Amino acid sequence: MIAAPRAWRQTAGVIARQAPHGAGHWWLDLDVPASFAPPAPGQFVQLLLPPAASPVLLPRPMSVAAVTRRRGGLRLGFLYAPVGAGTRALAALPAGDRVEVLGPLGHGYPLERPGTPVLVAGGRGIAPLLFAADALARQGRRCELVFGARSRDLLVGLDDARRRLAAMGGRLHLSTDDGSRGVRGNVVDVLERLAPRLAFPLVLHACGPHAMLKAVARWGLRHGASTWLAMESVMACGTGVCRGCPLPRSASAVAGFDGARTPSLHGNREWAMCCTEGPVFEAGELDWERIE
Ligand SMILES: Cc1cc2nc3c(=O)[nH]c(=O)nc-3n(C[C@H](O)[C@H](O)[C@H](O)COP(=O)(O)OP(=O)(O)OC[C@H]3O[C@@H](n4cnc5c(N)ncnc54)[C@H](O)[C@@H]3O)c2cc1C
Ligand code: FES
Repeated sequence: MIAAPRAWRQTAGVIARQAPHGAGHWWLDLDVPASFAPPAPGQFVQLLLPPAASPVLLPRPMSVAAVTRRRGGLRLGFLYAPVGAGTRALAALPAGDRVEVLGPLGHGYPLERPGTPVLVAGGRGIAPLLFAADALARQGRRCELVFGARSRDLLVGLDDARRRLAAMGGRLHLSTDDGSRGVRGNVVDVLERLAPRLAFPLVLHACGPHAMLKAVARWGLRHGASTWLAMESVMACGTGVCRGCPLPRSASAVAGFDGARTPSLHGNREWAMCCTEGPVFEAGELDWERIE
C-alpha cells in the first residue's frame, strides 16, 4: 500500500501566470491559500472553470507539476495540452482570473521506497516526474529520468527538464521513436540499456500514455522492479462518488480483495477507482490486457 492521501478541499485559485511551454503545451501557475494541503508528486486536482468562461459542465483533472510556498499560500504549477473544449477555455483565461480547485486528490508516488529511483516519462508525463525528482532531491537522493516521445519536437519542456535535473544532480536519458534525439526507440529500450548499470532494487515511477505505461509495467514485472504508474481515466468527481473512472483489477488483486476492509469510495472486487485508489497504481494491481 502507498501512503494515505492528505485531506482535500475545494477552494478558489487565482491564475498567476499562463505561458506556452513547447510542443503545443501550456504552463499554468495557480495560487491557492495556505489552507490547501500541499500536493505530493503524482497527486492531482480537479479544476472547475468559472461558469461564464466554461463551455463544459464538469471539472477537468490535472496532475500537479510543481508546488512552491509563497506568502499566504501555495503556488501550484501545471503542464497541460489544450485538447478539447475545457482545456482550450482554460488556456484562454488571463492572469488574475479565478478557477475552483478541488484537491489534493488521489495517491502519489511512494518516493520513500528504498532502491534506485528511475523516473519514466512519456510526452507531457514529464510534469509530475520533475516534481518527483524535486522531492527526491530534497531527500538527498539522485534519480535517473528516462524521457521519451515520438520525435524531438514532442519532448515537452526539454530545456526546462534538463536545467532542473542538472541542478538536482539527476541524470536524463532520452529516446525518440524516429531517433531525432537520444536513443532511437522507446523508453523501454532505454530501460534495457540502463538497468544493467544501476544498483538494484529499482523503483520505477512512470507517467505517460497508457500504451507506454503498459510496456513499462510489463518490463517492471518481468525484471522484479517495484513499478508505479500514474493512470488516467475520464473523471467527473475525482473523489470516488460518481463511479465513473474504473480500471480493471489484476487476477491477483481480485483474489486478494477484501470487501470488508475496502473504503466505500474505493471500487469493488473487479474494478479499482482511478481517482481514489490511484491515480498511481503498482504494476501488479491492474489487468494490463484490458487497459487501452
Ligand atoms: C489524474 C489525471 C491527471 C491528468 N493530468 C493531466 C496533465 O497534467 N496535463 C494534461 O494536459 N492533461 C492531464 N489529464 C488529462 C486531462 O484531464 C484531459 O485532457 C482533459 O480533461 C480534457 O478536457 P477537455 O474538455 O479539454 O477535452 P474533452 O473535449 O473532454 O476531450 C478531448 C479529448 O481528451 C480525452 N479526455 C477527456 N478527459 C480525459 C481524461 N480524464 N483522461 C484522458 N483523456 C481524456 C477525450 O476522450 C478526448 O479525446 C489528466 C487526467 C487525469 C485523469
Ligand atoms: S471520478 Fe468519480 S469516482 Fe472517480
